[in-house]
Amino acid sequence: MSDHTIPLAGVIGTPIAHSRSPQIHRHWLTTMGLKGYYIPMNVSADNLGAVLRTLPKAGFVGVNITIPHKEKVLDLADLVTDRATLIGAANTLIFRKDGKIHADNTDGYGFIKNLQSAPHGWQASAGPAAVLGAGGASRAVIAALLDAGVPEILLSNRTRVRADALAQEFGKRLRVFDWVQAGNMMEYAATVVNTTSLGMVGNQPLRVPLDGLQKGAVVTDIVYAPLRTKLLEVADQMGCHTVDGLGMLLHQAVPGFERWFGQRPEVDSATRAAALR
Ligand code: ATR
Repeated sequence: MSDHTIPLAGVIGTPIAHSRSPQIHRHWLTTMGLKGYYIPMNVSADNLGAVLRTLPKAGFVGVNITIPHKEKVLDLADLVTDRATLIGAANTLIFRKDGKIHADNTDGYGFIKNLQSAPHGWQASAGPAAVLGAGGASRAVIAALLDAGVPEILLSNRTRVRADALAQEFGKRLRVFDWVQAGNMMEYAATVVNTTSLGMVGNQPLRVPLDGLQKGAVVTDIVYAPLRTKLLEVADQMGCHTVDGLGMLLHQAVPGFERWFGQRPEVDSATRAAALR
């Protein structure tokens, strides 16, 4: 790529039409007055390797990776950050000038930044975090919470063996509760996180008793459609602090944008509005 070429980035997944990333990155490009394009690309697993080898030659400086390629892409990268290795998935690729593909995972960063940016603030040291769900998103959330300094993770998942496997992997700082007893985690929790797909548009709501929660607890959901999930509504009614999942999506986009386009963008109310358009 010559220095005069306009940098290209984008997001790869399948399906891809639902992705909010184009609105977010295009909003930043426009409001920051930067040259660049951000393009959604529907790519099948079979074509992923060939596409990733071709894009740098076409002027791409990197891409976001979304479902279902976040795990597979690790095998196609030349360099993988520690946090992407730990999570076992990548969401951000940098195409380096030396031709190497650098894979990173900024989901955990986005998750923590979203909590920290809430008006009431969030402290990792405030106490244990109760995590619901043990899938791919849960791995990123648990790794980020532990890295941020949360003293203990309480984990519950419908399929208990998946939670047990995560507990084995992350070690002593993780305690597993049966799904039917997930409500028992609440009395200990300073933070509660839903990482399941329950509560998302078209899915059933997450019905976990929050009765034991302390008033100052922070409840967050990685689901952002709808913005106010049943979990957050109930937590609000109980006087807890709530943080919706849209901010995680916005904040995870920041490191990639900065690497590709050279300036660090702000996550503010205009970014939120752009993502929802
Ligand atoms: P992701 O990578 O987005 O986390 P995933 O690996 O499919 O996706 O995990 C989805 C999570 O939502 C899991 O924790 C899943 O529980 P199981 O491990 O028991 O499948 C949880 N989940 C999805 N539907 C659920 C439901 N109806 N009731 C309870 N948990 C559900």
